[in-house]
Amino acid sequence: APAELRELLLSRITDIPDHPQPGVVFKDITPLLADPAAFGALTEAFAELCGRHRVDKIVGLEARGFILAAPVAVRAGVGFVPVRKAGKLPGTTLGQTYELEYGTAEIEIHTDALAPGDRVLVIDDVLATGGTADASLQLIRRAGAEVAGLAVLLELGFLAGRQRLEPGLKGAPLEAL
Ligand code: PRP
Repeated sequence: APAELRELLLSRITDIPDHPQPGVVFKDITPLLADPAAFGALTEAFAELCGRHRVDKIVGLEARGFILAAPVAVRAGVGFVPVRKAGKLPGTTLGQTYELEYGTAEIEIHTDALAPGDRVLVIDDVLATGGTADASLQLIRRAGAEVAGLAVLLELGFLAGRQRLEPGLKGAPLEAL
């Protein structure tokens, strides 16, 4: 993102030490959400990617990804599709498990949420290890759609999510604002 936008966004993200557990520094985006100028600028920047990468649908990842992705979908004039933690979606679903530091997690999408050939942009707040995002890319492909790209507000580079995602992206762009 341009330096000015980067500075604005970073100034509205707060570090919370030892949340949700000791040793972890949580990136709190609630100040950004509370500032309409910053939230608006973020929405515009994500929406601009939709034009650049020819996007038909936006997938948001539970939970903070929903908040960021929904206004982008409206702004870009494309549909919003939720990817949720297992057991939350009411219809028939596809599920994908992925490795956590300790144990596994599972996310789901409705089987009929995407049409064959749909070009999908995935939006989330933070890219950490890349496990969640990688699982979402697999779900999109299994649902018969194409990955147009992955866009996040914040990339925690020291966790090497970008490297983990490289095979799954298959050349699709990863944009970190
Ligand atoms: C956080 C974040 C991303 C994911 C990134 O969500 O919002 O979705 O973790 O981590 P990863 O790159 O290591 O997979 P979380 O699982 O905390 O869910 P929540 O937003 O529902 O609290």
